[in-house]
Amino acid sequence: MSCLKKIKIIKPDDWHVHLRDEKILKKILRYTEMFYQRAIIMPNLNQPIIDYKKAIFYKHRIINATQLNTKFEPLMICYLTKETCLKELQYGFLRNIFIGAKLYPNQSTTNSNTGISKISEIFHVLELMQKMKMPLLIHGEESNINIDIYDREAKFIETTMIPLRKTFPELKIILEHITTKEAVDYIEENNSSYLAGTITPHHLMLNRNNMFINGIQPNLYCLPILKRKVHQNALRKAISNGSTRFFLGSDSAPHLYKHKINIFGCAGIFNAPSSLLCYITVFEEMKALKHFESFCSKNGPNFYNLPINQKTITLIKKPYKILKKISIGKDFIMPFLSGETLEWSIL
Ligand code: NCD
Ligand code: ZN
Repeated sequence: MSCLKKIKIIKPDDWHVHLRDEKILKKILRYTEMFYQRAIIMPNLNQPIIDYKKAIFYKHRIINATQLNTKFEPLMICYLTKETCLKELQYGFLRNIFIGAKLYPNQSTTNSNTGISKISEIFHVLELMQKMKMPLLIHGEESNINIDIYDREAKFIETTMIPLRKTFPELKIILEHITTKEAVDYIEENNSSYLAGTITPHHLMLNRNNMFINGIQPNLYCLPILKRKVHQNALRKAISNGSTRFFLGSDSAPHLYKHKINIFGCAGIFNAPSSLLCYITVFEEMKALKHFESFCSKNGPNFYNLPINQKTITLIKKPYKILKKISIGKDFIMPFLSGETLEWSIL
């Protein structure tokens, strides 16, 4: 009889993932499907998902690329631009094509060059979203290159979030992939049913020093960038105290190895093969396993007003070796923690 430690939880959802398209989509989707029942699919393709027709076609391409027969459900998001059409957005939301819309500050991250330069440009859109109770997902960083890269999230809260929430107090906002103590404090202090945050596995496991151990590690370059250890600790504490305002968003963001190891290397960490196992590792280290299921499977749907999944999955304390690379034609992608072994696996 096996006496390995096991944990059975409601099958989680990933509230922030990049699946890309075509060859990459076909190769990586199975990892998200394996661990997650639903996922919010980021709209920052090379041709961003800016209208409901694009979203419908992209959703079909994703469903056609599924491999595991898990009835995986992609949840689509509209990429906001200064040209976003109110009628389009309203139709997309009321017809359940979009479950939310995403604000990328202009030039803040991958494919954000059609993002928003000045938030007042889209106040009419935000007003409609508030009225329709349509969630707004935010990449919360100032994109001004004169602001230190390590301060851009804290600065965004001060100069954009606080005034924005005064103007639209009933707009449902998810501050995505938070990385700082300032963001944790801001969400906790507000303890509002209109504000939540997602946290990635890499920001829980690492801090900015990790990017420079044994030489520069481009695989650990992501945006928002890894921060100091005090911030990492604030995130770890936030998930351990069981607050329902934080939930899972892996920000798994694959780039071909040749685009990461490049003179202008891309930001993004591909963690889909291990994200859930990384999260459980951290919850166990923090002696907070009792809050693990809520973080993965309940807080997200409760915030988005969606049903909680019926299926369950079981994680087991048994070594799990993360694959070294995933080939994509002649190229390949190197996953987060490539070739390393975690203590948890999926049954
Ligand atoms: C993401 C990507 O590559 O699309 N990169 C990242 O570092 N997280 C974009 C994003 O979510 O910022
Ligand atoms: Zn992302």
